[in-house]
Amino acid sequence: MNLIFFLGKFPLLSIAEIFSVLKSKNIRYSVKMADENYLYLNLEENIYPDILLKILGGTIKIFQVEEIAKREEIKRVKNKNKVNLDDQEYALGNIVASQDIKEYEHREMDKPYTSPQTGMMPSKLAKILLNLAIGKKTTAIYDPFCGTGTILQEAMHQGYKVYGSDISKEAVAGTIKNLEWTKNEIGGRATEFEIFTHDGKILPDRLKLSKDNIAIATEPYLGLPWKDRIPKNVRNTKEITKVGDIIDSSIKSMSKILKKGERLVIIVPSFKVRHQIVNLEPKTSEYPNLVRISLINDLKFGDKHIDEMKSFLYYREGTVVTREIFIFEKV
Ligand SMILES: C[S@@+](CC[C@H](N)C(=O)[O-])C[C@H]1O[C@@H](n2cnc3c(N)ncnc32)[C@H](O)[C@@H]1O
Repeated sequence: MNLIFFLGKFPLLSIAEIFSVLKSKNIRYSVKMADENYLYLNLEENIYPDILLKILGGTIKIFQVEEIAKREEIKRVKNKNKVNLDDQEYALGNIVASQDIKEYEHREMDKPYTSPQTGMMPSKLAKILLNLAIGKKTTAIYDPFCGTGTILQEAMHQGYKVYGSDISKEAVAGTIKNLEWTKNEIGGRATEFEIFTHDGKILPDRLKLSKDNIAIATEPYLGLPWKDRIPKNVRNTKEITKVGDIIDSSIKSMSKILKKGERLVIIVPSFKVRHQIVNLEPKTSEYPNLVRISLINDLKFGDKHIDEMKSFLYYREGTVVTREIFIFEKV
């Protein structure tokens, strides 16, 4: 089956997500073409593109290729939908699945608990983080900074058991409300959830002993709610150091929950302080049982060649905080 995936705003992130989902479901594929706009894959088995698209957060549409036509033949097939592959060739076929914007709006806007102060994570990003974290054996997802529970909501939709915690009692109560609501939406096949108040820097014993194959997907504390710019002063420097310390302590503790081969996907912020970008680099030497992995290897991407890609940026224009997504695997 030949499919063209029309990619979202961060194409390499979308590609990494597609590869991760296909691998987790044991679907073998080969790449025919990739660039800023689309990823063209041959899948070794037939799948339902509409089900796959519902899982993915970074793909806008899926086009199923029926035949390839040369440029000079294109008049013959005037009435068919086509995708221009290069100067010489067109893929002919049909759009077989498109993103359901209304469903995204529903999940984001209609859930009972939201918290504008801690920042609202888009459901698309939540899906992407979840999909980068899942492996073949994963049975449960844990978010140690669950906030309003957006990542956990998506994990429930995908049928994973979910665990979440937050230092704020209000966030914990809110996440429980949101997951009850999600459970109601899903109906009979809804999974179990367990949400508790906890400091994300500390290992929760109850999960260390869990029989589940837990993967971790999380967006931790990102600092004060800075808006237009971050003035350079002692208070802000301290706050940025605090964010880095929370992230390192959390990765170190959470790594103890993971079984071999399971992943931890975490957002690490970078900050625009005056005209400078301050990056936080996770202190990987403090957690040697985790390795940073690359979900994209040896890919021809437009005119470029990508050997490997171990982190991905996600940002909105004009904001002072950029999210960098790191992917670790337990060895
Ligand atoms: C950026 S928000 C997460 C938003 C979440 N992804 C969502 O969809 O709503 C970060 C969360 O971390 C929590 N937090 C801050 N420090 C914490 C700590 N030390 N341990 C656990 N949670 C913490 C905050 O209460 C907040 O809910």
